[in-house]
Amino acid sequence: MDRRAIQSLHPMLVPAQTGDYARELFWDSVTMYLESEVRPGLRSVYEKEIQPDLKQALGREPDRKEIAAAMRQHDAGRWWYLQRTESQREGSDATRAVVERQLPLLIERAKASGNGPGSLTLNPDLVLPAYLDIDIHLQKGGYYGTADSRDTLLTGAVYDRGLTLGRMGAQGWLNDDAGLSLAAWVKEIYPDLKPKRILEMGCTIGHTLTAFKQAFPDAEVHGIDVAAPALRYGFARAASMGVEVHFSQQNAEHTNFADGSFDLVFSRILLHETSAEAVPKIFAECHRLLRPGGVMFHSDAPQFDELDPYAQSLRDWDATVNNEPFMDGYYAMPLEQAFVAAGFAADKTFRAKPVSRRLVEAGIDPKRSRTTGGRYFLAGAVKA
Ligand SMILES: C[S@@+](CC[C@H](N)C(=O)[O-])C[C@H]1O[C@@H](n2cnc3c(N)ncnc32)[C@H](O)[C@@H]1O
Repeated sequence: MDRRAIQSLHPMLVPAQTGDYARELFWDSVTMYLESEVRPGLRSVYEKEIQPDLKQALGREPDRKEIAAAMRQHDAGRWWYLQRTESQREGSDATRAVVERQLPLLIERAKASGNGPGSLTLNPDLVLPAYLDIDIHLQKGGYYGTADSRDTLLTGAVYDRGLTLGRMGAQGWLNDDAGLSLAAWVKEIYPDLKPKRILEMGCTIGHTLTAFKQAFPDAEVHGIDVAAPALRYGFARAASMGVEVHFSQQNAEHTNFADGSFDLVFSRILLHETSAEAVPKIFAECHRLLRPGGVMFHSDAPQFDELDPYAQSLRDWDATVNNEPFMDGYYAMPLEQAFVAAGFAADKTFRAKPVSRRLVEAGIDPKRSRTTGGRYFLAGAVKA
């Protein structure tokens, strides 16, 4: 069975056996239901049943932590937390089961892509950051995998299928909607940049970078990540599609690239998975790597200052249950101040919300999307 209705097949994404696929699709549907049908309704539960008493007791509007704590006590909120945790665990177990069954075939296929295009440089001596030594997304071993899978490409293959899970294809046919949308935004806002060298930090399986290579075919495109299993899969995936991407296992806090060697450095949903100590180092590294006039941006979920307290409180499940503990800290960070501290000029910082290409092409009003909000938030700076 394949999942052609929501995700395009490619040589590293193999159809699953019918029973496995049915199980995966079931949890996909449960996650979609919880995220896009049930969750929006919880706002009115909060506004009608919780907010008035809470506000009166506090003598002011509650903040995100107080709202989250109250929702966890309420039957409807507790039910959602329990069900969503179950769908996360079961969904990723279902995807992992598909990939485990396919692993010998995927390893064979990766060998066949071993000559590129592109390249893969691993560093077995790399010290993995402590903040990633966690079962992130309730996935055993997080991005590195467990002892028995660390030397394979298992977590990368799980990521490719899992990214689509619960989103019914909103990520794009090749999980490339973010890449296509962000690259189109760069072209529109910085028409003269014409990047010759592009770097993505925390690229995982390179699904965003393949779209950047498509948008900027003359550019040399690099992706770094600390997780070897993701990079192995990402390299095989890009090479099997004939897309030239250079992957290397490096920590974004300090890389081995030369000063001023990139025109464009970016990340997508990387920073909230790092730490308060790592973020300033990553911004300083971006500043070092850019040539004058080069552009840095980091795309993630919107900062808290873009949201009302109830919307902010929705990140609580991810931070407290889904093992993404820095979520609360990162979205509260004053990003522009941190950019300035890293060497960027205050008047060269920016924020933007590029629209999802997939929704535009499908003729769907972005405001109607419940999964991505129809837009990709980003913040960044131009190097003076
Ligand atoms: C949520 S994934 C984002 C993947 C991808 N950019 C996307 O849009 O789906 C975060 C990735 O960042 C990597 N990562 C976290 N901290 C890192 C660091 N300090 N240096 C390099 N990669 C890092 C993780 O291994 C993981 O693959």
